[in-house]
Order: sequence, then C-alpha cells, then structure tokens
Amino acid sequence: MLSKIRSLLEITDFTVEEIDELVALAMDIIANPKKYADVCKSKKLATLFYEPSTRTRLSFTAAMMELGGNVLGFSDAAASSVSKGEVVADTVRVVENFADIIAMRHNKEGAPWVASQYASIPIINAGDGGHCHPTQTLADMLTIYRHKGRFSDLTVGFCGDLLYGRTVHSLTKAMGRYRGIQFVFVSPDELRIPDYLRRDIDKKGYQYYETDKLEEAMPRLDILYMTRVQKERFDSEEQYDRLKDSFILDMPKLRHAKDDIIILHPLPRVNEIAYEVDAHPGALYFEQVRNGKFIRMALIYTLLKWAEEGRRPTSSANLVEASPCGNPRCISTVEKVPAIYTVHADGTRHCIYCDALEGSQPSHIP
Ligand code: CP
Repeated sequence: MLSKIRSLLEITDFTVEEIDELVALAMDIIANPKKYADVCKSKKLATLFYEPSTRTRLSFTAAMMELGGNVLGFSDAAASSVSKGEVVADTVRVVENFADIIAMRHNKEGAPWVASQYASIPIINAGDGGHCHPTQTLADMLTIYRHKGRFSDLTVGFCGDLLYGRTVHSLTKAMGRYRGIQFVFVSPDELRIPDYLRRDIDKKGYQYYETDKLEEAMPRLDILYMTRVQKERFDSEEQYDRLKDSFILDMPKLRHAKDDIIILHPLPRVNEIAYEVDAHPGALYFEQVRNGKFIRMALIYTLLKWAEEGRRPTSSANLVEASPCGNPRCISTVEKVPAIYTVHADGTRHCIYCDALEGSQPSHIP
C-alpha cells in the first residue's frame, strides 16, 4: 500500500527544497505568464469538491485555464453519483478516465489519501475536514515570501480556531521546518491545536507557546494568521455561538504590533477581522487569494511533469493495520478502508488518514 505516483496530500509530502522550487516557479509564472500559457495544453484537471468552496475551486480552475488546460468536475457531491452511495475509491477510478490530475476537497479527513491509493493520476488535497489544507499553505508561503523574502527567523502567531482550522495545521508543519521559526498559538482553551499536532511539534522541538490573549502576543509577531471559527465542524449551535467571537482583530489591537507585521487569513472571513483592518498595509488576505492561483499553477505543472517522468513518492513510513480510528471525522468511519497507522520511532501510532493518535478520544468541546 502506498501510491506509486507523486501527489500532494499533506504539505510534508514535499521536501523543503521542493517547496522552495515551487515558490521560485510561481515567482517565474508571475513574471513571465506567457511562457506558461500552453504548458498544460490538452491536459485536464478534475475538481471533485464534496464540500463548499469559493477560492480553492475557482483558483484551481483559473490556474489550469492559464496553463492552457481544461477543467471538469463537480462542486456539489449531491449532484454526482456520490449521492447514490459511490465511495471515493470508485469515484477516482472513474474520473481518472477523463482527467490527468484531480483536486479533491472532502468533509471527511483522509479522503484524498484514500483517493491516492486507487488513482493512477496525481491527487491534490484541496482541504479534508478539519485536518489539513496544503495548497492553502502554499498560497500562504508564497505571500510570506513576497513580503518577508524568507521563511526563516520569523515569529508566526495563529489566532482563532486552531483545533479545526486545517490551514493552521498545514502551515505549522510547513514553517516549522525552517530555521529560527517561533510559533504563538492564540485560542480559547476549547480550540487549542489538536493533541496529535502538539505531540508532533514537541517531538520535533519547534519553539512555541500557547495563550488566550492576543494583545499579549501581538508585539512579538512578524506574521499574524487569523482564522474563522469553523462552524461546520461543531456538534451544536450553542458551542459555536459561545466561541465564535473569541477574537476580533481591530485597529486598537494592532497598535501593539510591529510596524511591518503582515496579517494573513485563508478566508472566508466572518467576524474575526474588522473591516477597518483591510486598509492596514500589512493586511494581505486578498493578495493571498491571488497568490493561490499562481502557486496552484506551479503545483499542477510540477505534478503533471513528475507524473510524465514516472517520479515515485519516497516514503519510508512504517505502516501497520490495527483497530478502527476513534475520530468520527475520519474517512475510515464511513467508508470500508483498512485501519492503518504510521508507527513512529517512539512507538506512537497515528491514523494514516486523519493523523489521530491510536486510542485517543475524539476532540470534544465541552
Ligand atoms: N481558503 C479556502 O479554502 O477558501 P474556500 O473554502 O473558499 O475554498
């Protein structure tokens, strides 16, 4: 088990050097768009979106069109044969007859990983449940690069829903690999980063601290990454209503910030950034959207090239089959797939689909 073709399921599927190359390619695309206008001519991208999206789906579509390729797919699983009970493994084995590459968004964590096991074409994870969102991370990184000129020696603050905020999980994994990075995680107690991620960053020795006070963290930050409280992941409206306005970034709070702070947000925004902040020179969330198109152009072009070259993933993961995953958001709880865990050197096991620690209780908001 393990795909024979390079995909992007989580940001760590790409080495630091490969991410640097992707960013460099995106910069070249920005500078020389005509050079890339036909490089994917006669290629097709399938966008399989089982969950709502504005930015990600449209930017994948625009990216493929600007590379000279074509796009097909669905934006509502209810209008596809998924509504008749078709599983991910079958859907991708059908779609690969019509497309050269697939971008998939799914509400169940690990669905793109399942897709990669069955498809003979590259799979791009366009966001899976509350787990990860690697192409948003690439958009974030291109934005950071264009404004800071580096990925090292930066203090990055994440604020809001860090439990379900999949963009936070992927960006933490990506930035933690660079030298001199410090993280500040700002959230209410109920929405702290998931246990599996905390254990992972503890193990890797990343520098971080957690707080529930944004003002206290503000003066240290080079980057402030605001996030929406993810209503769609909550069990009840009451829980959401209690936590939704935990942090609202406004100009008085930014008075404590460094002059050259940059403010990122994956969008959509609900209430967590006051509109007055949009005029701040560091407010880059709409530029992030634009950068998302350029980096997805670089990604599609690269994965299709690697597929033609027959490049294989270089995973040395030690995998075992064990008892079913306890995370109700995991794809393994709704589709018949084997319960597989990655075994780490210290003996801990993480679900291959959703990263949950074997035997851990699902995240619960009291
Ligand atoms: N940032 C992001 O994933 O936005 P969409 O949900 O609109 O795609």
